[in-house]
Amino acid sequence: MSEHRTERGNWNSKLGFVLAAAGSAVGLGNIWGFPTQVAENGGASFILIYLICCLIVGLPVMIAEFAIGRNTRRNPVGAFKKLGNGWFPPLIGLWGVMCGVMILSFYLVVAGWTFGFVFGEIFYFTGLTGASEWVADLGNGFKNAIFTILFMIATIAIITGGVSNGIERATKTMMPILIAVLIIMIVYVFTLRGSMDGLRLYLLPDFSVVNTSLVFAALGQAFFSLSLGMGALLTYGSYLKKNQNIVESATYVTLADVGIAFLAGLLIIPAMFVAQYSGITIMDEDGRLFASTTLVFDVLPNLFKSMGGFFGLLFGASFFVLLSMAALTSTISLLEVPVSYLIDEHQVSRKKASIGIGGLVMLFAVIISFNINLIDVLATIFNNVGLPLGGLMLCTFLAWFWKSEKAMDEIRHGFEDMDNTLFPKIWPVFVTYICPLLIALVLITTLYNLIR
Ligand code: PFF
Repeated sequence: MSEHRTERGNWNSKLGFVLAAAGSAVGLGNIWGFPTQVAENGGASFILIYLICCLIVGLPVMIAEFAIGRNTRRNPVGAFKKLGNGWFPPLIGLWGVMCGVMILSFYLVVAGWTFGFVFGEIFYFTGLTGASEWVADLGNGFKNAIFTILFMIATIAIITGGVSNGIERATKTMMPILIAVLIIMIVYVFTLRGSMDGLRLYLLPDFSVVNTSLVFAALGQAFFSLSLGMGALLTYGSYLKKNQNIVESATYVTLADVGIAFLAGLLIIPAMFVAQYSGITIMDEDGRLFASTTLVFDVLPNLFKSMGGFFGLLFGASFFVLLSMAALTSTISLLEVPVSYLIDEHQVSRKKASIGIGGLVMLFAVIISFNINLIDVLATIFNNVGLPLGGLMLCTFLAWFWKSEKAMDEIRHGFEDMDNTLFPKIWPVFVTYICPLLIALVLITTLYNLIR
């Protein structure tokens, strides 16, 4: 066995794997992407549609990624190369590696903002108003670069530690803290005036706004939120032991992702209405709730300020620690994709690969730090087009090149009574027809809207 092969590592425990994969899935997409989409798109009816999208498209594709990863024990490029001939299979993997590098480059800048705001809150409440305003300036390239670099150093440090000592240990520590902090914050917000208005908006379904573009928006959000389409979960699957039930684990990861997105909404939407009670503007002229950066870096910090004193500090700093942890468990999965590619395909040591590719991504991220309008452009190309395209290629490959029977032979390991369940009848239909068709529709709609 060559040296690099022994470096691949394994997850130490079943729970460790589920938490690591859930950590990849739970990120900025859940904590600020999902709640505002819900508020803007018919409240609970969006939650329901989102849940259905996760179950009928996300879950089958996630099972496919885990199965390909575990069967080949390779990074995305090596995995597709091993299972198929010709130029097409490795291209799917390379597309994934490229999406990983590019998504990480801008995701890091946003993650750096959230990390900076932890200090921003502390500065504000300790009277260092100048420093807190400096941190709050999202357009300050130099400041952005500092926090982006710090965030990347943390990501590289974890990845250098390897699969069980680095990724698994870090996510096993951070995920329970994240869930606990989220729940404590929800309970506190519910005690504040105005929260019930938010809760009502969040939970009352308005089916009149449901249309096909809303369904496609939910599908796109599900794909990004579940970290699908670029081989991150395929790579995590490649460290899986044969005795772990892939279907069961994928179900837990999907439910954890949807559950945490739902909890984030329970916190953020009521918090916005608490802010409104304190006189903070939470909607634009058209009556739409503020979303994304305005929501997270403007409305919510103003709410924390209005709380004042110790509670403001505690609440504000905890919220940004929560966001930073969610982002960190996702950035490590994004970096692990190109790192595992270098380890497997180019026999580079884990340490050199992490520092080398991490350094390159850091350079891109610094450039983006100074040109933050690039974030939207890159997100459109790589999140909205890149991930569904990757997912479509993955399903096509599995169904027509590798064949679902072979994938099921892999899935049977750890799921011995699979043949006595409905799984072998349902899953192949989903990965072969339903998922590719729905993903293709999302892709076509996105491209159509872009060129229109
Ligand atoms: N799922 C992450 C989020 O919701 O923020 C983002 C992400 C991580 C996308 C890893 C893709 C990926 F491979």
